[in-house]
Amino acid sequence: LKRIGVLTGGGDCPGLNAVIRAVTKSALRAGLEVVGIEDGFGGLIRQQFRPLNLAAVSGILPKGGTILGTTNRDNPFKYPVLVNGEKKYVDMSQTILDNLAVAGIDALVVIGGDGSLSIARELHNKGLRVVGVPKTIDNDLSATDITFGFDTALHTATEALDKLHTTAESHHRVMILEVMGRYAGWIALESGVAGGADVILIPEIEFQIENVVKKIEERCQQGKKFSIIVVAEGAKLGENLVVQKVIEDSGDPIRLGGIGQRLADELERRINLETRVTVLGHLQRGGSPTPFDRILGTRYGAAAVEALLEGENGVMVALRTPDIVTVSLAEATGVLKRVNPEHDLVQAAKAIGISFGDE
Ligand code: F6P
Repeated sequence: LKRIGVLTGGGDCPGLNAVIRAVTKSALRAGLEVVGIEDGFGGLIRQQFRPLNLAAVSGILPKGGTILGTTNRDNPFKYPVLVNGEKKYVDMSQTILDNLAVAGIDALVVIGGDGSLSIARELHNKGLRVVGVPKTIDNDLSATDITFGFDTALHTATEALDKLHTTAESHHRVMILEVMGRYAGWIALESGVAGGADVILIPEIEFQIENVVKKIEERCQQGKKFSIIVVAEGAKLGENLVVQKVIEDSGDPIRLGGIGQRLADELERRINLETRVTVLGHLQRGGSPTPFDRILGTRYGAAAVEALLEGENGVMVALRTPDIVTVSLAEATGVLKRVNPEHDLVQAAKAIGISFGDE
């Protein structure tokens, strides 16, 4: 092993630079050369390679985003090309293997969520030497206790709930905060508990609008004329289970978001309080990573290089508290980690009176 490449795939995520820095620093100390791949898997096809040295990663630890660029769209197995003015999707995986061989890159560290790590798994099946690092604010990878980026998103969502509390109370309003998380309710659940929400609505627990109304009315009767609702972007009014079934059957992405406003419209028809919606959106992906994410990213980056040096291949580094371990990419991809309605945090939240709209 002489030269390794590092790339970031999928959406950006706080802590990416901490991982890139740790991979680079630990690899250089082990006598390896490091090449940064720009703009994700597309950069492997287009040969966007640049050497990473200590100067290149200096000062990037607290920075959000990624110094390497990334993109959601480039899947080398379905890469869009124009043939006679018509868009066609072609398999460019062999080009990637050839480009890596020409550049003398012996192995790749792929930092990504389920989509990017699944691509890494397929490239590994075609012969690529690869180690994955679990990245996503959604925390929906099943093989690790936690993905880096989640903690920063959680902090941002919790801070938003703290701020919404003061304005909600002043105006006697119902404040709805819509958070990200894709098909998983982790950001909503944990920020809802940390931020003192009255109602938490997540994709994994089917809710009815009447139960949400009931909770708000109960609070009014107790003299509390404001309520805070946190809703996950993947939650669907009264049809959560159906939607999940569609996803599981087809694997097709369903357009997310908009649930906050739909919920507000339904509530305003049923209660005599003003309702306002805040969609937190990409604020959850931006900004400086928390100390937790900087530390986790550093541990993951160093562990990925160590795994390569020890001859491991086709694996993902994972946190199994308190250890960092490796798990095969085959096991780590394809099954998303969703909130189990029996999870003890859900039960604790219910025990203190938070409603999930299911009863
Ligand atoms: O997977 C991370 C995530 O931020 C999800 O929470 C969200 O649904 C999605 O990406 C948004 O993607 P985009 O940046 O393409 O709008």
